[in-house]
Amino acid sequence: MRSIHIDLGKDSYDIHIEKGLLDQAGQYVRQLTSAERLAVISDDTVDALYGDRLQASLEQNGYDVRRIVFKAGEESKNMASLADLYQGLADADITRSDAVITLGGGVPGDLGGFAAATYLRGVPFIQIPTTIIAQVDSSVGGKVAVDLPSGKNQAGVFYQPKGVLIDPELLTTLPVRFIHDGLGEVIKYGCIRDKYLFELLEQLDDTTLSEHWDEIIERCCTIKARIVEHDVLDMGERMLLNFGHTIGHAIERCYGYGYYTHGEGVAAGMAMLTAVTEEKGLTEAGTTARLDAVLQQYKLPVTVSAAPQQLLPYISHDKKKRGHRLTLVIMNAIGKSELLPIESKDIPDYVRKVGGE
Ligand SMILES: NC(=O)c1ccc[n+]([C@@H]2O[C@H](COP(=O)([O-])OP(=O)(O)OC[C@H]3O[C@@H](n4cnc5c(N)ncnc54)[C@H](O)[C@@H]3O)[C@@H](O)[C@H]2O)c1
Ligand SMILES: [Zn+2]
Repeated sequence: MRSIHIDLGKDSYDIHIEKGLLDQAGQYVRQLTSAERLAVISDDTVDALYGDRLQASLEQNGYDVRRIVFKAGEESKNMASLADLYQGLADADITRSDAVITLGGGVPGDLGGFAAATYLRGVPFIQIPTTIIAQVDSSVGGKVAVDLPSGKNQAGVFYQPKGVLIDPELLTTLPVRFIHDGLGEVIKYGCIRDKYLFELLEQLDDTTLSEHWDEIIERCCTIKARIVEHDVLDMGERMLLNFGHTIGHAIERCYGYGYYTHGEGVAAGMAMLTAVTEEKGLTEAGTTARLDAVLQQYKLPVTVSAAPQQLLPYISHDKKKRGHRLTLVIMNAIGKSELLPIESKDIPDYVRKVGGE
């Protein structure tokens, strides 16, 4: 068992990582809550795969379990589904001394977590993430949200879970595109903080990767935990986690959500920016070539066909923009990154094809 403690004062919690943990979830949940009743929030795909096993483990430990299921996919991460979840929690008679478990990827985690944060002004919740994105990123750090018609994650709060239970074995059923999607974020962690992780990924490939999930997930969660401990409200250091995201979000939006996955956008965003910063002498020589190679090894894009000018309008709307400045995250060398505040007028200089424009 690998465990990571995340120290946030009264909001502290542990992340446990072990293959097969799903079937022992009941024992761990017992240590986290004295609730009698648990609402398990999941999407229909994950519920069909793992809902029965989780329920069995929880019931073996004496819980009264109610499952609340919504349709899988980002389209469900909205106010209408949230209203349905509130109704489901009311129908299940969940009280503030009960608890919510979110079982699934980032969508059940964000949507179910937001429901838990706001129903009855807050019901304790536990995350059981089932995608790579969720196991290395969204289940840790306490950001929960729903999308609004005007933008992704626009209604949300910071609400820390009581615990996070990660079973890497659940990744065996994850479609390969979601594996690569998640690896975009995993490679990002290597770039910003963890040269060892980056080099491990260089040595592995799609087939050998699964033997190393526990270690990979532990390293990613540790990085995120340490960063969040210093900056829970995302005002400074936590922005390092946005490496590749400024251009990545612009790519996702320029092509319309769903064409490129989030991880693919981040991958191209990291590669495009690093090519520029290396040319400017802000990044150690040779870094871009290694980054491109590792991204391509996991079928991730290193650029997109859209011209930089087509991406720019989407960048100037980035929510990380404050006034006339924008904070970019740049990689100085593999495993080392920093925040680089730039003037808005200089953005085109960082979003361009190296050697041209
Ligand atoms: N809160 C945060 O800090 C944070 C961070 C990163 C991403 N996010 C959010 O996370 C979401 C993306 O996460 P995601 O990719 O996990 O989305 P998701 O929850 O929609 O999962 C992707 C797909 O995989 C399926 N799935 C999940 N686990 C599976 C498994 N083990 N086997 C087979 N299929 C499985 C789901 O049913 C879904 O169809 C976005 O909404 C994003 O905004 C939040
Ligand atoms: Zn991301």
